[in-house]
Amino acid sequence: MDNRLLEINNLKISFYHQHRSIQVVRGFDLSLNNREIVGIIGESGSGKTVSATSILKLEDETQSIDSGTIIFNGINLLELSEKEYQKIRGNQISYIFQNASSALNPYKKIGLQLTEVLRNHKLPFSKNIVLDVLKEVGIEEADTSYDMYPFQLSGGQNQRIMIAQGIISKPDLLIADEPTSSIDASLKRTVLDLLKKINQKSHMAIIFITHDFEAAKYLCEKLIIMYGGLVMEEGEVNEIFAKPLHPYTEELIKCANSLTQGDLNVYTLEGTAPTPLQFKEECPFISRCKMKLPECSFGIPKMTTLGTRKVRCIKYETR
Ligand SMILES: Nc1ncnc2c1ncn2[C@@H]1O[C@H](COP(=O)(O)OP(=O)(O)OP(=O)(O)O)[C@@H](O)[C@H]1O
Ligand SMILES: [Mg+2]
Repeated sequence: MDNRLLEINNLKISFYHQHRSIQVVRGFDLSLNNREIVGIIGESGSGKTVSATSILKLEDETQSIDSGTIIFNGINLLELSEKEYQKIRGNQISYIFQNASSALNPYKKIGLQLTEVLRNHKLPFSKNIVLDVLKEVGIEEADTSYDMYPFQLSGGQNQRIMIAQGIISKPDLLIADEPTSSIDASLKRTVLDLLKKINQKSHMAIIFITHDFEAAKYLCEKLIIMYGGLVMEEGEVNEIFAKPLHPYTEELIKCANSLTQGDLNVYTLEGTAPTPLQFKEECPFISRCKMKLPECSFGIPKMTTLGTRKVRCIKYETR
Protein backbone atom coordinates (compact mmCIF):
# COMPACT_ATOMS: atom_id res chain seq x y z
CA MET A 1 0.00 0.00 0.00
CA ASP A 2 1.21 3.51 -0.79
CA ASN A 3 2.10 5.12 2.51
CA ARG A 4 2.74 8.60 1.12
CA LEU A 5 0.55 11.27 2.73
CA LEU A 6 2.03 14.44 1.28
CA GLU A 7 4.34 15.15 -1.62
CA ILE A 8 5.34 18.71 -2.49
CA ASN A 9 7.48 19.36 -5.53
CA ASN A 10 9.23 22.46 -6.78
CA LEU A 11 6.99 24.93 -4.98
CA LYS A 12 7.67 28.58 -5.75
CA ILE A 13 5.73 31.38 -4.09
CA SER A 14 5.71 35.15 -4.68
CA PHE A 15 4.19 38.21 -3.10
CA TYR A 16 3.00 41.17 -5.09
CA HIS A 17 4.02 44.44 -3.47
CA GLN A 18 4.27 47.97 -4.75
CA HIS A 19 3.69 46.98 -8.37
CA ARG A 20 6.22 44.19 -8.40
CA SER A 21 6.26 40.53 -7.70
CA ILE A 22 8.93 39.18 -5.34
CA GLN A 23 9.60 35.48 -5.03
CA VAL A 24 10.10 34.46 -1.40
CA VAL A 25 9.99 30.67 -1.75
CA ARG A 26 12.17 29.55 -4.65
CA GLY A 27 12.21 25.78 -4.23
CA PHE A 28 10.35 23.85 -1.59
CA ASP A 29 10.04 20.06 -1.69
CA LEU A 30 8.77 17.75 0.98
CA SER A 31 7.69 14.11 1.18
CA LEU A 32 5.88 12.86 4.22
CA ASN A 33 4.53 9.41 4.93
CA ASN A 34 1.52 8.66 7.09
CA ARG A 35 2.34 8.99 10.79
CA GLU A 36 5.75 10.52 10.16
CA ILE A 37 7.10 13.64 11.90
CA VAL A 38 9.17 16.01 9.79
CA GLY A 39 10.84 19.15 11.06
CA ILE A 40 11.40 22.33 9.06
CA ILE A 41 14.24 24.40 10.43
CA GLY A 42 15.93 27.58 9.27
CA GLU A 43 16.60 31.17 10.23
CA SER A 44 13.89 33.79 10.38
CA GLY A 45 12.58 34.73 6.94
CA SER A 46 13.81 31.56 5.23
CA GLY A 47 10.29 30.72 4.06
CA LYS A 48 9.10 28.09 6.55
CA THR A 49 5.70 29.62 7.31
CA VAL A 50 4.97 30.73 3.75
CA SER A 51 5.75 27.22 2.45
CA ALA A 52 3.73 25.46 5.15
CA THR A 53 0.67 27.72 4.94
CA SER A 54 0.58 27.16 1.18
CA ILE A 55 -0.44 23.56 1.94
CA LEU A 56 -3.69 24.97 3.29
CA LYS A 57 -3.89 27.67 0.65
CA LEU A 58 -4.21 30.31 3.33
CA GLU A 59 -2.70 32.99 1.17
CA ASP A 60 -4.14 36.44 0.67
CA GLU A 61 -4.63 38.17 -2.68
CA THR A 62 -1.04 39.47 -2.68
CA GLN A 63 0.38 35.94 -2.77
CA SER A 64 0.70 33.67 -5.77
CA ILE A 65 1.93 30.14 -6.19
CA ASP A 66 4.16 30.36 -9.26
CA SER A 67 4.82 26.67 -9.74
CA GLY A 68 4.75 23.29 -8.06
CA THR A 69 2.45 20.54 -6.95
CA ILE A 70 1.07 19.68 -3.52
CA ILE A 71 -0.24 16.12 -3.56
CA PHE A 72 -2.14 15.17 -0.41
CA ASN A 73 -3.60 11.68 -0.18
CA GLY A 74 -3.22 11.43 -3.96
CA ILE A 75 -4.99 14.74 -4.76
CA ASN A 76 -3.22 17.82 -6.14
CA LEU A 77 -4.50 20.43 -3.71
CA LEU A 78 -3.60 23.31 -5.98
CA GLU A 79 -6.21 22.15 -8.49
CA LEU A 80 -9.06 22.16 -5.95
CA SER A 81 -11.74 24.84 -5.84
CA GLU A 82 -12.10 26.88 -2.64
CA LYS A 83 -15.20 24.84 -1.75
CA GLU A 84 -13.31 21.56 -2.11
CA TYR A 85 -10.43 22.99 -0.13
CA GLN A 86 -12.69 23.82 2.78
CA LYS A 87 -13.38 20.13 3.27
CA ILE A 88 -9.67 19.46 3.71
CA ARG A 89 -8.67 22.54 5.69
CA GLY A 90 -9.03 21.87 9.41
CA ASN A 91 -10.61 18.52 8.70
CA GLN A 92 -7.80 16.49 7.21
CA ILE A 93 -5.05 19.07 7.72
CA SER A 94 -4.83 21.35 10.78
CA TYR A 95 -2.50 24.27 11.38
CA ILE A 96 -1.34 25.51 14.76
CA PHE A 97 -0.28 29.08 14.12
CA GLN A 98 2.99 30.65 15.10
CA ASN A 99 1.36 33.52 16.95
CA ALA A 100 -0.26 31.67 19.84
CA SER A 101 -1.95 34.61 21.49
CA SER A 102 -3.91 35.65 18.41
CA ALA A 103 -5.22 32.17 17.64
CA LEU A 104 -7.62 31.96 20.57
CA ASN A 105 -10.60 34.26 20.79
CA PRO A 106 -10.37 36.15 24.10
CA TYR A 107 -14.15 36.64 24.25
CA LYS A 108 -15.23 33.02 23.92
CA LYS A 109 -15.08 30.26 26.46
CA ILE A 110 -12.67 27.41 25.75
CA GLY A 111 -15.44 24.81 25.43
CA LEU A 112 -17.31 26.90 22.86
CA GLN A 113 -14.16 27.56 20.81
CA LEU A 114 -13.42 23.86 20.56
CA THR A 115 -17.04 22.98 19.81
CA GLU A 116 -17.01 25.53 16.98
CA VAL A 117 -14.07 23.76 15.32
CA LEU A 118 -16.18 20.60 15.14
CA ARG A 119 -19.29 22.45 14.02
CA ASN A 120 -17.44 24.39 11.33
CA HIS A 121 -16.26 21.13 9.86
CA LYS A 122 -19.66 19.50 10.15
CA LEU A 123 -18.33 16.88 12.54
CA PRO A 124 -20.35 15.37 15.40
CA PHE A 125 -20.00 17.55 18.49
CA SER A 126 -20.79 17.16 22.15
CA LYS A 127 -19.41 18.36 25.48
CA ASN A 128 -17.91 14.91 26.05
CA ILE A 129 -15.92 15.01 22.82
CA VAL A 130 -14.47 18.38 23.89
CA LEU A 131 -13.74 17.17 27.42
CA ASP A 132 -11.96 14.12 26.01
CA VAL A 133 -9.69 16.25 23.84
CA LEU A 134 -8.97 18.61 26.75
CA LYS A 135 -7.90 15.60 28.81
CA GLU A 136 -5.86 14.29 25.89
CA VAL A 137 -3.79 17.48 25.77
CA GLY A 138 -3.25 17.28 29.53
CA ILE A 139 -5.69 19.90 30.82
CA GLU A 140 -6.47 18.84 34.35
CA GLU A 141 -9.97 19.68 35.56
CA ALA A 142 -11.20 19.74 31.98
CA ASP A 143 -14.74 20.39 33.23
CA THR A 144 -13.73 23.68 34.87
CA SER A 145 -11.52 24.80 31.95
CA TYR A 146 -14.41 24.14 29.55
CA ASP A 147 -16.23 27.14 31.03
CA MET A 148 -13.21 29.44 31.25
CA TYR A 149 -11.92 32.20 28.99
CA PRO A 150 -8.34 32.05 27.63
CA PHE A 151 -7.16 34.85 29.97
CA GLN A 152 -8.13 32.73 32.96
CA LEU A 153 -5.65 30.05 31.95
CA SER A 154 -1.85 30.12 31.99
CA GLY A 155 0.26 30.52 28.83
CA GLY A 156 1.15 26.83 28.93
CA GLN A 157 -2.50 25.82 29.25
CA ASN A 158 -3.44 28.07 26.32
CA GLN A 159 -0.72 26.39 24.28
CA ARG A 160 -2.38 23.06 25.05
CA ILE A 161 -5.78 24.48 24.05
CA MET A 162 -4.29 25.51 20.71
CA ILE A 163 -3.02 21.99 20.20
CA ALA A 164 -6.47 20.72 21.17
CA GLN A 165 -7.94 22.98 18.46
CA GLY A 166 -5.54 21.44 15.99
CA ILE A 167 -6.27 17.81 16.83
CA ILE A 168 -9.97 17.82 17.73
CA SER A 169 -11.03 17.11 14.16
CA LYS A 170 -8.59 14.16 14.06
CA PRO A 171 -6.71 15.31 10.96
CA ASP A 172 -4.25 13.11 9.07
CA LEU A 173 -1.74 15.94 9.19
CA LEU A 174 -1.01 18.50 11.89
CA ILE A 175 1.22 21.46 11.04
CA ALA A 176 2.67 23.00 14.19
CA ASP A 177 4.35 26.32 13.43
CA GLU A 178 6.83 27.04 16.23
CA PRO A 179 4.52 25.78 18.97
CA THR A 180 7.28 26.06 21.55
CA SER A 181 8.69 29.46 20.69
CA SER A 182 6.46 31.58 22.93
CA ILE A 183 6.57 29.38 26.00
CA ASP A 184 8.87 28.88 28.92
CA ALA A 185 11.83 26.56 28.43
CA SER A 186 10.46 24.33 31.19
CA LEU A 187 7.19 23.86 29.30
CA LYS A 188 8.89 23.12 26.01
CA ARG A 189 9.58 19.48 26.77
CA THR A 190 5.98 18.99 27.91
CA VAL A 191 4.62 20.32 24.61
CA LEU A 192 7.06 18.19 22.62
CA ASP A 193 6.06 15.12 24.64
CA LEU A 194 2.42 15.95 23.99
CA LEU A 195 2.99 16.14 20.22
CA LYS A 196 4.90 12.85 20.40
CA LYS A 197 2.05 11.22 22.30
CA ILE A 198 -0.55 12.52 19.82
CA ASN A 199 1.52 11.20 16.91
CA GLN A 200 1.83 7.77 18.50
CA LYS A 201 -1.72 7.48 19.76
CA SER A 202 -3.71 9.14 17.00
CA HIS A 203 -1.29 8.30 14.16
CA MET A 204 -1.27 11.90 12.97
CA ALA A 205 1.62 12.94 10.76
CA ILE A 206 3.20 16.18 11.96
CA ILE A 207 5.11 18.99 10.27
CA PHE A 208 7.00 20.71 13.07
CA ILE A 209 8.39 24.16 12.26
CA THR A 210 11.10 25.40 14.57
CA HIS A 211 14.30 27.36 15.10
CA ASP A 212 15.33 24.90 17.74
CA PHE A 213 17.61 22.07 16.59
CA GLU A 214 17.42 20.28 19.93
CA ALA A 215 13.60 20.25 19.80
CA ALA A 216 13.69 18.95 16.22
CA LYS A 217 16.14 16.23 17.21
CA TYR A 218 13.91 15.19 20.09
CA LEU A 219 10.67 15.07 18.13
CA CYS A 220 11.32 14.51 14.43
CA GLU A 221 12.38 11.61 12.27
CA LYS A 222 13.20 13.68 9.21
CA LEU A 223 14.45 17.22 8.84
CA ILE A 224 14.29 19.88 6.15
CA ILE A 225 16.73 22.78 6.38
CA MET A 226 15.66 26.01 4.68
CA TYR A 227 17.63 29.11 3.76
CA GLY A 228 16.91 31.97 1.41
CA GLY A 229 13.58 30.50 0.28
CA LEU A 230 15.17 27.18 -0.65
CA VAL A 231 15.43 23.73 0.88
CA MET A 232 19.18 23.35 1.41
CA GLU A 233 19.26 19.88 2.92
CA GLU A 234 16.90 17.07 3.76
CA GLY A 235 17.36 13.73 5.47
CA GLU A 236 16.91 11.59 8.56
CA VAL A 237 17.51 13.63 11.73
CA ASN A 238 20.15 11.27 13.12
CA GLU A 239 22.06 11.17 9.86
CA ILE A 240 22.02 14.96 9.60
CA PHE A 241 23.34 15.35 13.14
CA ALA A 242 25.99 12.68 12.63
CA LYS A 243 27.17 14.16 9.34
CA PRO A 244 25.69 17.42 8.10
CA LEU A 245 26.34 17.79 4.37
CA HIS A 246 25.56 21.45 3.70
CA PRO A 247 27.96 24.03 5.18
CA TYR A 248 24.86 25.91 6.45
CA THR A 249 23.58 22.85 8.32
CA GLU A 250 27.04 22.32 9.76
CA GLU A 251 27.05 25.88 11.09
CA LEU A 252 23.55 25.56 12.56
CA ILE A 253 24.52 22.36 14.37
CA LYS A 254 27.69 24.00 15.70
CA CYS A 255 25.54 26.82 17.12
CA ALA A 256 23.05 24.35 18.63
CA ASN A 257 25.81 22.22 20.19
CA SER A 258 27.53 25.25 21.62
CA LEU A 259 24.26 26.31 23.27
CA THR A 260 23.51 22.90 24.80
CA GLN A 261 27.09 22.46 26.02
CA GLY A 262 26.71 25.76 27.87
CA ASP A 263 29.83 27.28 26.27
CA LEU A 264 30.77 30.61 27.79
CA ASN A 265 31.18 32.10 24.34
CA VAL A 266 28.23 30.65 22.45
CA TYR A 267 29.16 29.95 18.83
CA THR A 268 27.19 32.13 16.44
CA LEU A 269 26.91 32.31 12.71
CA GLU A 270 28.33 35.59 11.42
CA GLY A 271 26.37 37.77 9.01
CA THR A 272 22.71 37.75 8.10
CA ALA A 273 20.51 35.81 5.72
CA PRO A 274 19.53 37.57 2.49
CA THR A 275 16.03 39.00 2.29
CA PRO A 276 13.91 38.22 -0.81
CA LEU A 277 14.80 41.63 -2.25
CA GLN A 278 18.46 40.63 -2.12
CA PHE A 279 18.01 37.19 -3.72
CA LYS A 280 20.29 36.51 -6.68
CA GLU A 281 20.81 33.59 -9.01
CA GLU A 282 23.53 32.12 -6.81
CA CYS A 283 23.81 30.07 -3.64
CA PRO A 284 22.06 32.23 -0.98
CA PHE A 285 24.57 31.12 1.65
CA ILE A 286 27.54 32.36 -0.37
CA SER A 287 28.32 35.45 1.74
CA ARG A 288 28.56 33.42 4.96
CA CYS A 289 30.03 30.19 3.66
CA LYS A 290 33.53 29.25 4.76
CA MET A 291 33.87 26.78 1.92
CA LYS A 292 32.67 28.93 -0.95
CA LEU A 293 34.12 28.52 -4.42
CA PRO A 294 33.89 30.88 -7.41
CA GLU A 295 31.33 28.50 -8.97
CA CYS A 296 28.90 29.13 -6.09
CA SER A 297 27.90 32.38 -7.79
CA PHE A 298 27.19 30.74 -11.17
CA GLY A 299 23.55 29.95 -10.36
CA ILE A 300 21.34 28.44 -7.68
CA PRO A 301 22.81 25.02 -6.89
CA LYS A 302 20.68 22.04 -7.84
CA MET A 303 19.35 19.61 -5.27
CA THR A 304 21.55 16.51 -5.34
CA THR A 305 20.32 13.17 -4.06
CA LEU A 306 22.89 11.07 -2.21
CA GLY A 307 21.27 7.82 -1.10
CA THR A 308 18.71 8.77 1.53
CA ARG A 309 19.99 12.35 1.72
CA LYS A 310 19.43 15.46 -0.36
CA VAL A 311 21.61 18.54 -0.44
CA ARG A 312 21.74 21.78 -2.44
CA CYS A 313 25.45 22.58 -2.68
CA ILE A 314 27.76 22.52 -5.69
CA LYS A 315 30.25 20.45 -3.69
CA TYR A 316 27.97 17.49 -4.30
CA GLU A 317 26.77 18.24 -7.83
CA THR A 318 28.04 15.79 -10.38
CA ARG A 319 29.49 17.70 -13.25
N1 LIG B 1 2.28 38.77 3.38
C1 LIG B 1 3.55 38.92 2.98
N2 LIG B 1 3.88 39.88 2.08
C2 LIG B 1 5.16 40.03 1.67
N3 LIG B 1 6.20 39.28 2.08
C3 LIG B 1 5.92 38.32 2.97
C4 LIG B 1 4.59 38.08 3.47
N4 LIG B 1 4.64 37.04 4.34
C5 LIG B 1 5.94 36.66 4.38
N5 LIG B 1 6.70 37.42 3.57
C6 LIG B 1 8.15 37.31 3.37
O1 LIG B 1 8.46 35.99 2.96
C7 LIG B 1 9.69 35.57 3.52
C8 LIG B 1 9.48 34.26 4.24
O2 LIG B 1 8.66 34.48 5.37
P1 LIG B 1 8.22 33.35 6.37
O3 LIG B 1 7.21 33.92 7.28
O4 LIG B 1 7.86 32.12 5.62
O5 LIG B 1 9.58 33.09 7.16
P2 LIG B 1 9.84 32.04 8.32
O6 LIG B 1 10.93 31.12 7.85
O7 LIG B 1 8.57 31.42 8.76
O8 LIG B 1 10.46 33.00 9.45
P3 LIG B 1 10.22 32.98 11.04
O9 LIG B 1 11.17 31.96 11.56
O10 LIG B 1 10.58 34.37 11.45
O11 LIG B 1 8.79 32.65 11.32
C9 LIG B 1 10.16 36.70 4.45
O12 LIG B 1 11.13 37.46 3.78
C10 LIG B 1 8.92 37.52 4.68
O13 LIG B 1 9.24 38.87 4.86
MG1 LIG C 1 7.44 31.52 10.46
